[in-house]
Amino acid sequence: MAAARWSPAAFLALLLLLLPFAPSPARAATPGKSPSSSSTAVFQLQGAVYPIGHYHVTMNIGDPAKPYFLDVDTGSDLSWLQCDAPCQSCNKVPHPWYKPTKNKIVPCAASLCTSLSPNKKCAVPQQCDYQIKYTDKATSLGVLIADNFTLSLRNSSTVRANLTFGCGYDQQVGKNGAVQAATDGLLALGKGSVSLLSQLKQQGITKNVLGHCFSTNGGGFLFFGDDIVPTSRVTWVPMARTTYGNYYSPGSGTLYFDRRSLGVKPMEVVFDSGSTYTYFAAQPYQATVSAVDFKHSSF
Ligand SMILES: *[C@@H]1O[C@H](CO)[C@@H](O)[C@H](O)[C@H]1NC(C)=O
Ligand SMILES: *[C@@H]1O[C@H](CO)[C@@H](O)[C@H](O)[C@H]1NC(C)=O
Ligand SMILES: *[C@@H]1O[C@H](CO)[C@@H](O)[C@H](O)[C@H]1NC(C)=O
Repeated sequence: MAAARWSPAAFLALLLLLLPFAPSPARAATPGKSPSSSSTAVFQLQGAVYPIGHYHVTMNIGDPAKPYFLDVDTGSDLSWLQCDAPCQSCNKVPHPWYKPTKNKIVPCAASLCTSLSPNKKCAVPQQCDYQIKYTDKATSLGVLIADNFTLSLRNSSTVRANLTFGCGYDQQVGKNGAVQAATDGLLALGKGSVSLLSQLKQQGITKNVLGHCFSTNGGGFLFFGDDIVPTSRVTWVPMARTTYGNYYSPGSGTLYFDRRSLGVKPMEVVFDSGSTYTYFAAQPYQATVSAVDFKHSSF
């Protein structure tokens, strides 16, 4: 699933790979570190960018908590699960569909509902409908639900956070989508207030810091919070505002191939862990293809 919001082709989706720094997720808090009111939640990533082509985290949701595999998407804001509400069009997924109860439905007047679209009109005041369209034309339609997410924190405590997400009872697959999905839903970690990261920050559980690391052997880990961010061997760049959408962006990027600039004017780069492909506009695409062709024909 390509899980970015629609973005024009002028954007280059960049996957940041921090290799091969991989602390053990269950490591105890660093001794001597001053106590802080927020901690770090660490999750294992299963799968691999290559050759499998996808990876996911396992989240435990509900009462009692049940496991769900979720795609990690820094390019969108609303998390959702394939949901039996009842289901109108759901994919075959690894676990049974999430089954909501009436008391978990988020009402239209809730602030997170309003934040989805400021001038939202709800058909029924008791519920908040949503619809999302992704770059690959996949869609998810459903209602907002709030339920407990069970998170293991690095300070050795387990918290149950009441978080808002989408109960998606109608999913249409995109161009490259399969009816059999590898995950039960999507973990959206964008900058918007409904994103899981923003809700955890709002509730004082973790800070607005996100780490996403892959091992060269497949797998890796994801963390929310700042107390395992390494102090050295990391290059920091300020976050830039994007001209389109609410993406994480380190600003402009210049294309190089074989250490030579391709002479394409710098492009806005976004960090979107949910897109499978790197997209180019026509001109940088042509420049890249020509450079690869030239290299290939000179062998
Ligand atoms: C760990 O952090 C959480 C969330 O910030 C906090 O509520 C909890 O009290 C902390 N637990 C310990 C053992 O410090
Ligand atoms: C979440 O868990 C807490 C503590 O176990 C419980 O009191 C609360 O009702 C649960 N919330 C939901 C939405 O299920
Ligand atoms: C969980 O959060 C939602 C949305 O903020 C709220 O409507 C609901 O009452 C909360 N549930 C519990 C059990 O605290």
